[in-house]
Amino acid sequence: MEYRSLGGSGLKASAIGLGTWAVGGGPWWGPTDEAEALRAIQAAIDAGINLIDTAPGYGFGQAEELVGRAIRGRRDEVIIATKCGLIWDDSRGSPFFNLEGREIRRSLRPDTIREELEASLRRLGVDCIDVYQTHWPAIPPEATPIADTMACLLDLQKQGKIRAIGASNVTCAQMDEYRASGRLDVCQPRYSMLDRAIEQDILPYCLQHEVATLVYSPLEQGLLTGRIGMDRTFSPGEYRNQIVWFKPANRRRVLDMLEGWRDLCSAHRCTMGQLVLAWTIAQPGVTVALVGARKSAHAVENAAARNLQLDQATLSRMRRDVEALGQPE
Ligand SMILES: NC(=O)c1ccc[n+]([C@@H]2O[C@H](COP(=O)([O-])OP(=O)(O)OC[C@H]3O[C@@H](n4cnc5c(N)ncnc54)[C@H](OP(=O)(O)O)[C@@H]3O)[C@@H](O)[C@H]2O)c1
Repeated sequence: MEYRSLGGSGLKASAIGLGTWAVGGGPWWGPTDEAEALRAIQAAIDAGINLIDTAPGYGFGQAEELVGRAIRGRRDEVIIATKCGLIWDDSRGSPFFNLEGREIRRSLRPDTIREELEASLRRLGVDCIDVYQTHWPAIPPEATPIADTMACLLDLQKQGKIRAIGASNVTCAQMDEYRASGRLDVCQPRYSMLDRAIEQDILPYCLQHEVATLVYSPLEQGLLTGRIGMDRTFSPGEYRNQIVWFKPANRRRVLDMLEGWRDLCSAHRCTMGQLVLAWTIAQPGVTVALVGARKSAHAVENAAARNLQLDQATLSRMRRDVEALGQPE
């Protein structure tokens, strides 16, 4: 079983990690069956997944609470990655977006980070967060300097409340600023075979500077499993409505491309989702693919993808096909 280093932290994670955004439910994902979501998290751990990514903002604390319940009694088996920087019911920070009648604000001020950390520790039922990540960069009017944020994170690390430090949705220039203050172990960018922008800058940067990448939405929110057909519709508020690849004309092109890989699935005795995930974790600079699941069958299926080795000819063929798709309309 392959475990990969998370920067210089000493932590080693499975190449497939479990994401819990959808577990938080809400209008973007629709309601979550809590009992099934709990089973999914436990099934992922049983299947060898040792990294679970969550955030306070996923269901206003719901996802963290469920993760906390799922890992009770098995804390030592998991690396818990959570985040700070999105707050609600609070006038500090800078406006970001509204959801369910609440205003979500971005804040990387030391005082809000310290409060968020205590709330996450409580919800997760742990005394230390393994990977603590800033969720989104601070923006005006309260653009807290990265050096101030990092000083706070380094102090929390010194106190033993967090282990590794990470930053999500950042540029290379912003990572330079983090690294000017101390060790940055993890970066969490968006990446899938349909959204490869970070191959130009973030992935080479992270390889060069020993920063692990936890890449998110590798299945394009389920589209790349081939199981979301042309007949599936999403309500206006659902997040998948905002993803351009889900538009019918684009979705058709993706499904046709996946259809062309049926022989690869047969040869490897795997599902389409597993094939796509195996391709994703084989890309240079990708440390962990964070795959969202709130059904135990999905969690187990996704976990098995990390044991799938694709040869160079297969990797190249899949890349040629996704490159041939071009940009979405
Ligand atoms: N840092 C950030 O800003 C950020 C942003 C986005 C995501 N993330 C993290 O990355 C994780 C993964 O990203 P994501 O959840 O957006 O997208 P994803 O992993 O590409 O897709 C997850 C969704 O795909 C469907 N799915 C998963 N496995 C499946 C399978 N085997 N068969 C059929 N459908 C399957 C599920 O939909 P249903 O639930 O509808 O069944 C699941 O919720 C998140 O959970 C979160 O932890 C971070």
